[in-house]
Amino acid sequence: MRNIVLLISGGGSNMAAIVAAAQREDWPGTLGACIAGVISNRADAGGLELAREAGLPTAILDHRSYARREDFDSALAQQIAQWDRGGSVPALVLLAGFMRIVSPAFVALHQGRLLNIHPSLLPAFPGLHTHQRAIDAGCRFAGATVHEVTAELDHGPIWGQAVVPVLPGDSAERLAARVLTQEHLLYPRVVKAFLRQSGG
Ligand code: GAR
Repeated sequence: MRNIVLLISGGGSNMAAIVAAAQREDWPGTLGACIAGVISNRADAGGLELAREAGLPTAILDHRSYARREDFDSALAQQIAQWDRGGSVPALVLLAGFMRIVSPAFVALHQGRLLNIHPSLLPAFPGLHTHQRAIDAGCRFAGATVHEVTAELDHGPIWGQAVVPVLPGDSAERLAARVLTQEHLLYPRVVKAFLRQSGG
């Protein structure tokens, strides 16, 4: 069985979409994969409640309790490894609205099994405030990207993208909401493709 560990910081709607797809489509039976747990770096992340309601193990690791990024990341890695005991292949780690930059050591440890969803059509608009930047640039289309995580922020091989129109008079909030509905379809779809391709 291949484990999946999700890392969140906020509302957790992408996490919930993946959990719902895994249940609805019986990922353990059809893909040999199951959700092992959800880690948040914030105790007040709304997604934690959603994860608990889904009956999933959760962990809170507050990055502010660690002096260095590397220390926080090794605590993350330890929690992932703890849930992963018993998995026949190392866990797939999914950043789902996880608003921390992960260290090169963390990336190296999970190389080839670490995915992120980013709310822009990469390589355009890495970093923050993607929707306002797309509006300001006069883009006619915006969207989201699921990519493998590498040491360079919001880079790495692209596994899937979803495109939405930017409508006249859009605010960043309206555009973000339009993109987010597509993220909920895109991320589970890409995770399935990734699992199939990586033999999980
Ligand atoms: C999503 O739009 C995701 O793409 C974005 O945060 C939101 C999280 O929503 N991620 C990033 O900006 C990562 N740099 P969610 O918590 O409801 O899934």
